[in-house]
Amino acid sequence: MIYFIGFMGVGKSTIAKEIATKFNRKFIDTDKIIEGIEKKTINNIFKEKGEEYFRELEKKTLRKIKQNEIVACGGGTPIFNNNMEYINKTGISIYLKDSINSLLTKLENTQKKRPLIKKLNRPELKKYIELELIEREKIYKTATYTINIQNKSIQETLREINPLISTF
Ligand code: S3P
Repeated sequence: MIYFIGFMGVGKSTIAKEIATKFNRKFIDTDKIIEGIEKKTINNIFKEKGEEYFRELEKKTLRKIKQNEIVACGGGTPIFNNNMEYINKTGISIYLKDSINSLLTKLENTQKKRPLIKKLNRPELKKYIELELIEREKIYKTATYTINIQNKSIQETLREINPLISTF
């Protein structure tokens, strides 16, 4: 498996989908699978059943993924339930790293569909990213590879990732 990890909004699904197409592998997105199982949006799962329930489903979903798939993980997936350990045991992981300001811009446009940040105003969102990124990076950084995507186009990012995938 090749797992893409990183902060909310960084572009894991976009990059993972492109890689899956290029290498003719199946693409999956853990959040999409969970939404399919529950027949609810991530927002509604959090609202109706709570984060703990979501994290349990996320853990189970991760452990059901088949060999050879290209996986876009939720931003919190590696953080909970020893998932990062599982990820690194079962495949290679690629941490897509971006700057706080770039994450802020990307998230401002899409924060409504993300339960953990949907109600934050701009300064609160920036603070959230700053604090959460410090904590989460401790785990993200244990990925097999870290790709700095700051100021890079999708094409440039893909050019950096392609050689890593070719060797697997
Ligand atoms: C989360 C990230 C989201 C989604 C959920 C929780 C997180 O995925 O799993 O809202 O804890 O960072 P994206 O990274 O695709 O936004």
